[in-house]
Amino acid sequence: MAVSYKELGLVNTRAMFADAIKNGYAVPAYNFNNMEQMQAIIQACVETKSPVILQVSSGARKYANQTLLRYMAQGAVQFAKELGCEIPIALHLDHGDTLELCKSCVDYGFSSVMIDGSHHSYEENIALTRQVVEYAHKYDVTVEGELGILAGVEDDVSSETHTYTQPEEVEDFVKKTGCDSLAISIGTSHGAFKFKPGQNPEIRLDILAEIEKRIPGFPIVLHGSSSVPQEYVDLINKFGGKMEAAIGIPEEQLRAAAKSAVCKINIDSDGRLAMTAAIRKMFAEQPGEFDPRKYLGPARDELRKMYAEKNKNVLGSAGTVK
Ligand code: G3H
Ligand code: 13P
Ligand code: ZN
Repeated sequence: MAVSYKELGLVNTRAMFADAIKNGYAVPAYNFNNMEQMQAIIQACVETKSPVILQVSSGARKYANQTLLRYMAQGAVQFAKELGCEIPIALHLDHGDTLELCKSCVDYGFSSVMIDGSHHSYEENIALTRQVVEYAHKYDVTVEGELGILAGVEDDVSSETHTYTQPEEVEDFVKKTGCDSLAISIGTSHGAFKFKPGQNPEIRLDILAEIEKRIPGFPIVLHGSSSVPQEYVDLINKFGGKMEAAIGIPEEQLRAAAKSAVCKINIDSDGRLAMTAAIRKMFAEQPGEFDPRKYLGPARDELRKMYAEKNKNVLGSAGTVK
């Protein structure tokens, strides 16, 4: 049965992005696949008084079931209230790849969807994104499009090299599709191995500035924005893991991007690292423990701490909910 996100207490991203652009910060878009991740995200965002976008990928839908994830997001609205702050919460489809999937998410209570047509030709990307916009806007659901291809793995599609977004295309794309925000490729990538050792971990803020000039005030999205904190990589390796040469995006570059037209920053891998580090440490130090709450609890606490720090020091979204 179809349900509107409005009945669930969720919001779309329009007002969130308008405020983020006006005040020079980015709204956190954190992926979740289970209850502990969702709890940590909401706890951190309530504690720091930050709006939040809860992201569901196709992988998350396969792993956890779309119905359960949607009910969890619905529960998150009440959970935030119980924690003492009514923060704006959007439920967003991450990397939607077909019109049918986007439609089903709109019908199912999502307040925002991404249609990732970046692997199609420019014209096909426009046509597909336009179709999603036409459907989603009937229900006041916002749509993120993508131009340019990130290196690394996006769900099942992988690409060795970046295809940077071409600034001269963005105005035409935004005008023809009617999308509400645009994901761009400026050197970020998915996963924990974004740069090779010895490589300069730098994103192309010059391309971002060029894009901003062409579509001033239009909401820009950065995917692949985990920083891969070395303390987590070290803990994972210390307690039996094997993650050599994991390198992410330096935090100060993300902060600079968040101060400009970037108003949504996607982070998933850092959450995986924080949880894995905490669980490995727990297993190594207390090998007799077998109650999942005893290792998922500390993992959740670590995650909450990390998200709160990001909101305060990287995205600048802390304190923006009055
Ligand atoms: O963009 C990729 C996100 O990190 C989601 O990853 O497809 O493994 O859930 P996933
Ligand atoms: P990371 O892998 O850098 O966390 O990126 C996540 C992402 O872009 C989700 O869409
Ligand atoms: Zn992504």
